Amino acid sequence: MSRAPIGFFDSGVGGLSVLRAVRDQHPTEDLIYIADQAHVPYGLRQLEEVRHFSTEITRFLLHQGAKLIVVACNTASAAALHHLRRTFPDTPFVGMEPAVKPAAETTETGVVGVLATPATFQGRLYASVVERFASGVMLLQNPCTGLVEQIEAGNLDGEQTAIILEGALNPMLAANIDTVVLGCTHYPFVIPQIKQIVGEKVRVIDPAPAISRQVGRLLDKFELHTPDTSPGTITMLTSGDVQSFEGFIQLLEINGLVGIIRWKEEKLTF
Ligand code: DGL
Repeated sequence: MSRAPIGFFDSGVGGLSVLRAVRDQHPTEDLIYIADQAHVPYGLRQLEEVRHFSTEITRFLLHQGAKLIVVACNTASAAALHHLRRTFPDTPFVGMEPAVKPAAETTETGVVGVLATPATFQGRLYASVVERFASGVMLLQNPCTGLVEQIEAGNLDGEQTAIILEGALNPMLAANIDTVVLGCTHYPFVIPQIKQIVGEKVRVIDPAPAISRQVGRLLDKFELHTPDTSPGTITMLTSGDVQSFEGFIQLLEINGLVGIIRWKEEKLTF
């Protein structure tokens, strides 16, 4: 048993899509979330640079006593997960990888669309997922250039968002996809907009529930569940602008969270 918090990080608001799912499944755990908005987007950076940010954030979270860390960012997972596990061998990590496996197992047309950042597509993690799980499946990839920035700005319904999504998805539809994998944690926030384009017959895979189940498995394995029975606290930090971060949370109506968020207006110094 441990009362310590579960740590999360992302380049910005994207990891909140994962935090939401963990909160739903593990409501009594304390959560601490870092949005590295001073450096968003990660997806256009060199993998070494993202690895550096990820290592510093992990150190900070461990300093806050985190008992388990969710790398709630596909790009940071691609760049740093392996390195983090080696550098902090006593800490359990949960990372993200594009959900190619469940997509390949269930596709009927044999054509799957994957939306992720350029850095994620470049990483070894993606190559290994494709190699292990996607034989016999045609994967169509698109980096959705500019979409992370639109989501960070809260333009979920904006014209530019629609243009980016149509540009990515229409050619995939023409190639007969029946599944879209969301390989960036920002993208679940535009699932309604994606569904509007692809229609009801195309399955859109948001990995957050599976990630949350993995968190549960690690809490079991290392006996780290909190003994508390009342709702846990949620602490959020951003290396960017606190007000716009707060604005995004209100825009998304992560209602369950708002009353219980304890803001810490700290600047990260790396
Ligand atoms: N949300 C992140 C991901 O899953 C990072 C996006 C970005 O900063 O480019 O890839």
